[in-house]
Amino acid sequence: MLTIEERIAHMTLEEKAALCTGEGPWRTTPVERLGIPSMVMTDGPHGVRCVTDLDLIVCDSKPATCFPTASSLAASWDVALLEEVGQALAEEAIALGVDMLLGPGVNMKRTPLCGRNFEYFSEDPYLAGVLATGLINGIQSRGVGVSMKHFAANNQEYERFSISAEVDERTLREIYLPAFEMAVTQARPWTLMCSYNRINGTYGSEHHQLLTDILRDEWGFDGFVVSDWGAVHDRPAALRAGLDLEMPGPNPSRVRAVIEAVRNGELDEAVLDKSVGRILRIVDRAAATPKGGDFDASAHHALARRAAASGMVLLKNDGILPLRDPRRLAVIGRAAHDPYIQGGGSSHVHPTEVSAPLDELRQLLPPDATIVHTPGYPEGQDFDQALIDEAVAAAEQSEVALLFIALPAYKESEGYDRPDLDLTEQQVALIQAVSAAQPRTVVILNNGSAVTMSAWIDGVAAVLEAWMMGQAGGGAIADILLGRVNPSGKLAETFPLRLVDTPARINYPGENGVVHYGERLYIGYRYYDAKELPVLFPFGYGLSYTSFAYGNPRLSTESFRDVDGLTVSVDVTNTGEMAGAEVVQVYVHDHEARLGRPYKELKGFARVYLEPGETQTVTIPLDFRAFAYYHPTHRRWVTDDGAVDILIGASAADIRCTLTAMLHSTVELPSTLNRESTIRAWIDDPRGRKVLEPLLSLFQAQTVTLGGEDGAAMLGMDTGGLPMDMPLLVLLHFQGSSAPPTPEEMVDMLLAQVRD
Ligand code: BGC
Repeated sequence: MLTIEERIAHMTLEEKAALCTGEGPWRTTPVERLGIPSMVMTDGPHGVRCVTDLDLIVCDSKPATCFPTASSLAASWDVALLEEVGQALAEEAIALGVDMLLGPGVNMKRTPLCGRNFEYFSEDPYLAGVLATGLINGIQSRGVGVSMKHFAANNQEYERFSISAEVDERTLREIYLPAFEMAVTQARPWTLMCSYNRINGTYGSEHHQLLTDILRDEWGFDGFVVSDWGAVHDRPAALRAGLDLEMPGPNPSRVRAVIEAVRNGELDEAVLDKSVGRILRIVDRAAATPKGGDFDASAHHALARRAAASGMVLLKNDGILPLRDPRRLAVIGRAAHDPYIQGGGSSHVHPTEVSAPLDELRQLLPPDATIVHTPGYPEGQDFDQALIDEAVAAAEQSEVALLFIALPAYKESEGYDRPDLDLTEQQVALIQAVSAAQPRTVVILNNGSAVTMSAWIDGVAAVLEAWMMGQAGGGAIADILLGRVNPSGKLAETFPLRLVDTPARINYPGENGVVHYGERLYIGYRYYDAKELPVLFPFGYGLSYTSFAYGNPRLSTESFRDVDGLTVSVDVTNTGEMAGAEVVQVYVHDHEARLGRPYKELKGFARVYLEPGETQTVTIPLDFRAFAYYHPTHRRWVTDDGAVDILIGASAADIRCTLTAMLHSTVELPSTLNRESTIRAWIDDPRGRKVLEPLLSLFQAQTVTLGGEDGAAMLGMDTGGLPMDMPLLVLLHFQGSSAPPTPEEMVDMLLAQVRD
């Protein structure tokens, strides 16, 4: 077999250009004379959507397990589970002849209005990064590749093909890139998919800084970058930026454009060769895993059921759940027999089977239990009072009403954003009417991202967030309602009280082709913390049928160097009567940072399963990055000396213990002082302060030249002390000495000392 370099040397320009564009919607171009096969890629994150005809961009797909979507998997906070799901996805890909899965999606949930949030993990970059790493490790451990997407800042569907996300560098580095960075450095995804949108004016497909400087030069990515389907605008420019493969194909005009660009010198053939090499490396890797065979559909259905249950979040429970031997049940809502298992768009899987909650309940309940089922709301957008009346009558005659409410696809899907965070008018009226007639009402929700509940939550006894739960979700719901499984899911996104409270409210969706990420670092709980805003349910929150106590919190050290990090330990005890899992969360609060930082940030977590009465010690390591922030002037991750708080909690709003440690920074930063720097900047800079200190009292005495106390009276202001926000140079000029050294010479002398 020829080496990659030899194959490149043997390829014609035409063959190279063709390789960098798909042969069809789901395949790379083969070069048969050199034995280069084509590679098959298909969506998507929560199931293998392998179309029955690989030459068609849209057609039915082969049956595959529809696992829970990312929102649901994320709420499990269970990395091992994601790995297991990843392995199952890979087994199915192999059986269906697929080399690479187009996912996972790791974009941040900047606004709950993003119609595609169901395909993304979290509002928190650390959590999303850890979960993506687990899923990718699982998939790739079986010799199937992934395409982590959509790189980057694709956080809304509104104008997703064109809008420019205007994001400052610090925000990009701390919020929108870390999930990609963590997965690239720790799971080494075979490929990455660029986003459709522009980032600070440049298309994701042409973004050299993202695709080359950061992704490859900084993070060491060694796979290839594929365009989102239709994201390329200028093919030679995209190649120069680091976009290797354009999809979908065939696209002869693009192949011609590459050939012409090389011929007329617009594109260096060496750049094309690099992309060819990257694609060949992955094509080889894919070919090393033989395809075909079967997968164990029933084992995967069982895994999908376990995964769905792990991600379900019990939001409210007045004690009604788990249901104890119910005999007369009203099961209301279309989603009880027609379960809502996934969202619309490219990730839509053709499930191998679907279990409906209604059937699963029937199977698990004693034979003499009676179930009355009514649809509750229509399929379309009409309001139908008769359905509500029918549901109320059923609820009145029952011991308990189970209300299955699924947000319809017209309110949430890939391709468009949500108009609001509410359920439909009919669904709200239905919940209100049923819960008024039957206080023992449990609401089971199917949706991909936060919904508001203020209009009805007080009236119901319990709420279970079941998400877009995958094909086996019906069984998972029955397991939880009947206490066969103890719920342990925790929200990976905040549920706000109102849309107007949400972080991007003023900046979203943007206008005139541009969306400003003006809330900067403050998305999700970072924002609600900063604003001290109450929320409906906080990040990290979820109830259990048991209770957990936290004790004996401790740190490995009270004083540490940033590069050494530290470990946090806490003893967790199951103080209730049912076995269950708890997710211990560790947030860091930095007291001393030179730049503003969110009040707290998740930097570690652990999931622990405990029998009643059992105690286990949970130990969570925190490394350099747990304490660092990105300094946009120095363009690197930095730490500052001083105290940091380590917050150990059961949610972002339920901090059980706080410990403090002294951080010693090993980061040496060059001074950024210059001729324009203010007195404050000089004093804030440790070296600046040192050289300026001997002169400070002199300046203080001489502020008299600025008017002194008399001047203060004349100006009606307090000119006492130093004018902190005045540049040093201006102050020296005000002092008016014409004799050498001049103010400029003096500042330059001081700057020279600082830089010594
Ligand atoms: C989506 C991608 C998807 C691709 C192929 C695009 O519209 O944004 O996530 O992988 O289509 O279906």
